Amino acid sequence: MMETNSKVLKVTSFISEMKDVARSFKENDLNVGFVPTMGCLHEGHLNLIKKSLESCDRTVVSIFVNQTQFGPNEDLHSYPRQLQSDIEKLEEVGVDVLFHPTNEEMYPSGHKTSLQVNKITKSLCGKSRPSLFIGVSTVVLKLFNIVQPNKAFFGEKDWQQLAVIEALVEDLNLDIALIRVPIVREADGLAMSSRNCYLSPQDRITALSLSRSLKQAVDVIRQGTTSSKVISHLIQQCLLEKGGLEIDYISICDPKSFKEKEQICGRTLIALAVKIGKSRLIDNCVIEEF
Ligand code: PAJ
Repeated sequence: MMETNSKVLKVTSFISEMKDVARSFKENDLNVGFVPTMGCLHEGHLNLIKKSLESCDRTVVSIFVNQTQFGPNEDLHSYPRQLQSDIEKLEEVGVDVLFHPTNEEMYPSGHKTSLQVNKITKSLCGKSRPSLFIGVSTVVLKLFNIVQPNKAFFGEKDWQQLAVIEALVEDLNLDIALIRVPIVREADGLAMSSRNCYLSPQDRITALSLSRSLKQAVDVIRQGTTSSKVISHLIQQCLLEKGGLEIDYISICDPKSFKEKEQICGRTLIALAVKIGKSRLIDNCVIEEF
């Protein structure tokens, strides 16, 4: 028999109500886990939620398609939204609270403040999407202030985003433990993403070249190749092999400073961003020291 969850999901769109709930959790000494998302929930999101449910007394999820992290020609308006089925998924796994504010609630007219993490936001995704990390940092800090979590869960799929949030938590002395969660992939290797639903069947096949090229890179590194130029060329060839894809960046860099590396030595991040049709997809892997 399928086990049904007896918990009732509380859904609120209001900051004041979310703050009241957060306050009552604090008063009752409950450990609160928080998973911020932009919705269209998939197994990658659900895995973060699972980690929170396992280690916290209460789990709050937010769904908010944050306009300030999208550039003028990006996919804000077409970004997939499916609140009803998201709610069903959250109910099924036993989340306690869904915070689902409107744009006006989060950014009322007269909103003047934004937050910029420096140094690590100029390269990789920050280079082609200059407003991305200002928007992400601002909304994540606002959400942290509203939800008041003890722990917050983020995916390594967005490696640079995670580094930016780690910097803001450290620099602004927030008492929040950030929990890193590894990338969840489809059976064929494609990293799960809300944006995968834009992919046509042909694009979906093309998209497999991201994880395939990373795997090939790891294999040749294990066999002794250390030149980033050689690895980068190999990745480029693999990505472009079948056409239908535009490369934004291939970065072989330090996983903390994001400084490019000429040689693979020590811990190294290999991160990719490509455009396939309307979708911009990212993927990455980390080569541990060996
Ligand atoms: P979103 O893309 O919805 O992702 C929400 C969280 O899920 C992020 O921490 C992201 O890294 C994680 N995630 C997405 N796909 C994943 C996968 N395949 N494996 C593991 N984790 C995955 O990232 C955002 O939303 C926004 O920028 C947000 C932080 C909510 C701020 O608006």
